[in-house]
Amino acid sequence: MIVSSAPGKVYLFGEHAVVYGEPAVPCAIERRATVTVDARTDDHIRVEARDLSLDGFTVEYAGDTGYRPDVDVPEGLVDAAVGYVDAAVEQARDAADAPDAGFDITVESEIPLGAGLGSSAAVVVAGIDAATRELGVELAPEELADRAYRAEYDVQDGQASRADTFCSAMGGAVRVEGDDCRQIDTPNLPFVVGFDGGAGDTGELVAGVRTLREEYDFAADTVESIGDIVRTGESMLADADPESEPTDELLSELGRLMNFDHGLLEALGVSSRTLDNMVWAAREAGAHGAKLTGAGGGGCIVALDETPETRTALRYTAECRDAFRAELDREGVRVEELGPDASARSDAEPNAEGERR
Ligand code: PMV
Repeated sequence: MIVSSAPGKVYLFGEHAVVYGEPAVPCAIERRATVTVDARTDDHIRVEARDLSLDGFTVEYAGDTGYRPDVDVPEGLVDAAVGYVDAAVEQARDAADAPDAGFDITVESEIPLGAGLGSSAAVVVAGIDAATRELGVELAPEELADRAYRAEYDVQDGQASRADTFCSAMGGAVRVEGDDCRQIDTPNLPFVVGFDGGAGDTGELVAGVRTLREEYDFAADTVESIGDIVRTGESMLADADPESEPTDELLSELGRLMNFDHGLLEALGVSSRTLDNMVWAAREAGAHGAKLTGAGGGGCIVALDETPETRTALRYTAECRDAFRAELDREGVRVEELGPDASARSDAEPNAEGERR
């Protein structure tokens, strides 16, 4: 048995525009998805989802992944939870050259599903890590990020960027521009998250921006302007000392850019009344800045505030279901627990490809 976990993330800036080759800066946060994988003797997959912000359920199916089990929960929910696990299983089977491997899989997540905090990426990253290790293969984080991206790409019909999966695998703050992904040094940013209890449909929201961008030059310019915001923000971060607390000046400049970014995302039609209300509640409480995070449409906002004011204000905001501080998590995917067989394997020397068998 192997247990791996991987963090969720907030976007400091750049969601949506990253789909069109602009840079984005997502930051891993200390909220994790934890996946437990036990190899089976047959080729069945059994998935138990405990708390992906939904009531738990268990499904079991045989043979090929892609089969949709007949369970009494809404189909979208099964697709969301099981689809990503399926894709992770396919990647793990491929990486370990074990096409018929079967697993018992338990997913436990502290990250609300589809709410802009990268829950699916965290499940896929932790799932591939645990399943490959269970098969005796250890992937480098960069390869794990790449396989997780391919898994998300398949589930999301090609609408995924590398941002969420790279951030979740590597941890910390990262910069993603097309296929160019790297970690960046940042001071500890005081993120506060507000969650409206809802979720957006990423595919639909991405398609909406795509249509606007094709139809209107000014929408294409808006996407480019988001890229300009990211470039401005990352040069501010590059000048900051990652070892020290962020200065007031840095926080207010980043906050101003976040506000600008939110305005442009709003113009592109991906905000919502509840997200806007939470953004305004944060700003009025004295946050340096606030914006939606992720695909939008519903879900979460992220604000910068080192004081407790924003969180308190959000908790008194009717549209806000939950508000919490989200520390930057400098650690990406990690093993939480090794079963007896696996710990014996992990003492073995890696082979030439960096794999342990
Ligand atoms: O809502 P999330 O966490 O899946 O983020 C989606 C971010 C987009 O830029 C809209 C799409 C993507 O894959 O980058």
